[in-house]
Amino acid sequence: MSGPLVVLVGPMGVGKSTVGQLLAERLGVSYRDTDDDIVAARGRTIAEIFVDEGESAFRAIEKQAVHRALAEHDGILALGGGAILDAGTRALLAGQRVAYLSMDVEEAVKRTGLGVARPLLAVNPRKQWRELMEARRHLYEEVATAVVATDGRTPEEVTEAALDAL
Ligand code: S3P
Repeated sequence: MSGPLVVLVGPMGVGKSTVGQLLAERLGVSYRDTDDDIVAARGRTIAEIFVDEGESAFRAIEKQAVHRALAEHDGILALGGGAILDAGTRALLAGQRVAYLSMDVEEAVKRTGLGVARPLLAVNPRKQWRELMEARRHLYEEVATAVVATDGRTPEEVTEAALDAL
């Protein structure tokens, strides 16, 4: 199987970056995050790109970044929470080892306070969170080869659960 050793998907704030780095350490491979790639390439934050160019422009940029990273990276790769909205990206994930890190809304509130620096959750975070998950849950599940619940677990515990599940 070519491509990343493990791809991490799941909603914003679920801990993809933290768990991804722990997984990379445990497995002795490198870690990459497509949001970081976009920020480095554009020299602006994700929030600035959303505000200046709008969500659909961000999605086009994200799609390119994700496709490039899937082709180039052989370690742990974390995707931005909305990357799975793209059908081409979902098709590329078929045949990959993909862990979906999940959490319920109460865990999301605890972890992120919902909305801080998250352009998609700025107005009515709890309601927007529920709507986002209604729209996306089945897409995360579609691409996942393992679902790892993070509720009430530390990043270390989630990492162990992911290693067991993968
Ligand atoms: C988004 C998630 C964010 C970032 C952007 C949009 C989303 O990534 O790509 O704010 O649509 O869920 P993280 O999941 O890494 O926070």
